[in-house]
Amino acid sequence: MNQAVLILIKPDGLKKSLTGNILTRLSETKLEIVAAKMVRVSRELACEHYKHLKEKPFFEEIIKYLQGDLHERKKVMALVYWGKDAITKCRDLAGATNPEEADPTSIRGSYGRITTSGVYENAIHVSSNPEEAEREIKLWFEPKDIIVDLYPVKNAVEKEFKRKVW
Ligand code: PPS
Repeated sequence: MNQAVLILIKPDGLKKSLTGNILTRLSETKLEIVAAKMVRVSRELACEHYKHLKEKPFFEEIIKYLQGDLHERKKVMALVYWGKDAITKCRDLAGATNPEEADPTSIRGSYGRITTSGVYENAIHVSSNPEEAEREIKLWFEPKDIIVDLYPVKNAVEKEFKRKVW
């Protein structure tokens, strides 16, 4: 079944210049990239992304991490991959969330670490299931940023909407 999945190359991955390596690894899946962009992550976006972890002791640290405060890299690369069994294929290549438990040949096993305060710096985020993928993709991307129609859309008229134009 065709699925969409959100991938984030997190600030540690960018700081270590791993973008090329990670995209090469992900290309093994033969999935299609249907959206990609660099994002300066606001606290609001980070908190919404990890909202199911609000009660965890590491919550504030992962918010700082995603915002780039720990790596002097205030950006994240966000991508949507699409195709057959996209979530399983990307999660298999990513490896276990805990980089010490990840297969050493996986992306997280190769490039991840656990900080002295116990936070996983695991280079990438991969949506865990189709429901989370839909929630996350809608959070990180607008319909116009994605080159296929993933989810139903509706028309909205925005009055006095101020935005920067070229
Ligand atoms: S849950 O509730 O633990 O199953 O949540 P999960 O969906 O696996 O996501 C956990 C995210 O928090 C990051 N993180 C940690 N998780 C557990 N323990 C520690 N110490 C920890 N530090 C960070 C973990 O990397 C998951 O984020 P992503 O972006 O998905 O890797």
